[in-house]
Formats: sequence, C-alpha cells, structure tokens
Amino acid sequence: MNIRIPRGTADVLPGEVEKWQIIEDKARDLFHRYHYQEIRTPMFEYTELFLRGVGETTDIVEKEMYTFLDKGERSITLRPEGTASVVRSFVENKMYGNPQQPTKLYYIGPMFRYERPQAGRTRQFTQIGLEALGSDDPSIDVEVIALALSFYEELGISNLHVEINSVGCPDCRPIHREALVSHLLPYRDKLCKDCQSRLERNPMRILDCKVESCKELTKDAPSVLEHLCEDCDSHFQKVKDYLKEMGISYVVNPRMVRGLDYYTRTAFEIMETRIGAVGTLCGGGRYNGLVEEIGGPPVPGIGFALSIERVLLALEAHQVNLPIQSFLDVYLAIQTEHVKGKAVALIQKLRAAGFSADMDYMNRKMKAQIKSADRFHAKWVCIFGEEEMSRGNVLIKDMATGEQEEAAYEQVLHILKEKIMK
Ligand code: HAM
Repeated sequence: MNIRIPRGTADVLPGEVEKWQIIEDKARDLFHRYHYQEIRTPMFEYTELFLRGVGETTDIVEKEMYTFLDKGERSITLRPEGTASVVRSFVENKMYGNPQQPTKLYYIGPMFRYERPQAGRTRQFTQIGLEALGSDDPSIDVEVIALALSFYEELGISNLHVEINSVGCPDCRPIHREALVSHLLPYRDKLCKDCQSRLERNPMRILDCKVESCKELTKDAPSVLEHLCEDCDSHFQKVKDYLKEMGISYVVNPRMVRGLDYYTRTAFEIMETRIGAVGTLCGGGRYNGLVEEIGGPPVPGIGFALSIERVLLALEAHQVNLPIQSFLDVYLAIQTEHVKGKAVALIQKLRAAGFSADMDYMNRKMKAQIKSADRFHAKWVCIFGEEEMSRGNVLIKDMATGEQEEAAYEQVLHILKEKIMK
C-alpha cells in the first residue's frame, strides 16, 4: 500500500503556498505597525504546561492532545495552542523584568489537536497569534480586537461579526458558578453526557455547549455578566466604550465562555457566519492569572489566535483572490550542449545580481524552451544559439513585445541589468 498523508493534515503545494505567504506577510506587517515582536517557541513542550495552562477539564486537554513519552520517559505534548508556550517563555526568560512593558509578542506556526477533521478543522493547523503581557488596561483589550479585525480587513474580508463577553475573575466567578450549578442541578439528567460531567468540573462550559437540549436548558441560566464584581464590570464597560470610540461594532454574548480555562474578564470571537461550523475565525481574551499559574509573578495578559486554514475559507466566502504574482526576470534558452557553459556562467551572475532566472535542464528543443519561458512569465529570454555564439553573441528577446536584439555575450549582463531596472 502506498503511504498517504496522515488524516487531518495537508500539503500546501506551490500555487497555493503563495497565498499563505501573502497572509503571513500581511500579519507580520500589521504586527510591526502595532509594535509587536516575533517569538518562536518549540512545537512540543512538557505536557504539564498544557495541563496547568489550558486546564485539565478542557476538551483540548481531555480529548485532543498529541501526548507521548519520549525516550527519556518524559511526557511530551505537541502544542495545541500558543499562549501557554509564550507565557512559559515569558516567565523562563524573565521578560517581566524588562523596563519596557507591556511585552508585545506574536507568533506564526503549526499547532496540533486530535479533532474530527473537516474543512477548516484540521489536526495540524497554522495559527497566527499574539500576546500582550503586563498591562491590565482595557485600551489594550481593544487594541488586540482592532488589530485582529484590521488583519481581515486588509486582506479584503470585512463586515465580520464580533462577539465579546466578560468571564469575570476569581473573585466573582465562584458566585456565578454557584448560581449556575443550583440552576442546572434539577435538570442534571437532561444534560448531555459531557455537560453532566462539566456540572461538577467546569460548569461555565455548559453555557456554550452546542447540543440543542443543553442550549434549551441553559436559556434562562444566570449569566456571568449579572455576577461581575465592580472591577470586572468597570473593565468591561471601558472595553465597550473604547470599541464604540473606535467605531467597531460588536455584540455582547453572555454565553460565550471559550474552550480554554485561563480566561479572565474579556473574551472575544470574530466570526464569519457564512462558513458554518468553523465560522469562528479568531478567538482570544484576557488571562490575568496565567503567568502566576505557570510560575511567574502576577502579570496580566491578553491575546488572540486565528488560523490560516480559516482565513482561506473566509477569503473564498468573500470571493477575494489574493494577488499572486509569479514571474521570472530572465529565462535562458540553450540550443546545444556546446554553448551551455557560457549560459551557466551567465545565469549564476544574473542570480548574484539579484534577478530571478531559470534555464532549461531537460535538453529540449528551442521551441519548447521558449514555451516554458512564456509559461513562467519570463520578461526576457536570452537565447544561446550556435550561430550567434559563433560570433560571440546571444539574442535577447523581450517577451512583452516579441522584439529581439543581438548583443555581445560580454555585454549581456550589463544590458539586462539596465532593461530590468528600467
Ligand atoms: P482557540 O479558540 O482554541 O484559542 O483557537 C484560536 C483559533 O484557531 C480559532 O478561532 C480557529 O480559527 C483556529 N483553530 C482552532 N482549532 C483549529 C483546527 N483544528 N483547525 C483549524 N483552525 C483551528 C487559542 O488557541 C488561544 N490560544 C487564543 C488566545 C491567544 N487567547 C489568548 N491569547
């Protein structure tokens, strides 16, 4: 049997990879404008990081992690998300001690979750994410939301749906938790199996269960917004005010709790309703307790992540064609073996001078070589013919006009430089 690609993964082939490059370039450009710096952390970490960071009762940790023992019998997990790793690095490298705070970091890289694959939900996916650590000011919550929206807008995806919520803090959450549990306890048997276990372990997650019967049972359940403490309430109010000031439309969804345990206060999602089940393009929020949880000082943080796979679906839904440009400055067409030495010497000089250049390596007929040049959108073709070479010359063909000129081999580099730079 032939070996196939693992389920839930994909090859990104030439023709498609250019779109990924445009998306990644856009993200980098935007992050630099908002003054975020790149961080690269390993693709695997000790499992404990995610147990503590993401939360032992989350779906990610309970069902979706790629966990294995390495040869030294240590439990290793392929990262299912980026925040825990960034926070680990922030603590390990004592970035909280830098005089300039907040620490604004971004990352682009693969994440791994053992999920049921479908379009926009893969087992290896590429997240673009950022984390701002060190400030509890609501204006940075809004910066993060605005940045995520600008990213989509600059790619040509606008009118996305923004939902926000506050999930409170360790002061107010227990009060909500109690109210929620006493509301749901009488209906325990009617909840789905997952929610029955959530009722004891993580009752807030019941609020965003997708099972219809659970949705019905939680319709009138107490919302966390009704139980926010004064500080959380005023934080949330300011986030809403600043969003209004920035002209960003949003909907408050008191049932949105997100699938990771580290969130405190602001939580948000950006959605494209036209792409159904995987319509959540971007998710994020504040995590004021995570740095301490991972062994650092009490430093607040906020961030988001989105995946390139879902950006591509959104581009399709919005009928945006990214401007993929692929061309060659020069293609070298070579008539015979005899003149090839001069051609390889020239192509090396062209590339060293900064131009894109390619040539025939298949010893094909001249006509087929010119066809390749056309297919590669070459601007110029240098024809190494026996006859011209016997005079020490080559032909330079302008592919846009079809015009040809014969030039001395020694002059070709100089002539092409002038033409290309024009
Ligand atoms: P998350 O909501 O788990 O949050 O994931 C963020 C985004 O990653 C989702 O909105 C979705 O676009 C994408 N995503 C998740 N799973 C898959 C998948 N299997 N296939 C394709 N795309 C996927 C986090 O990961 C948090 N770390 C975000 C964050 C950063 N919060 C604070 N800072």
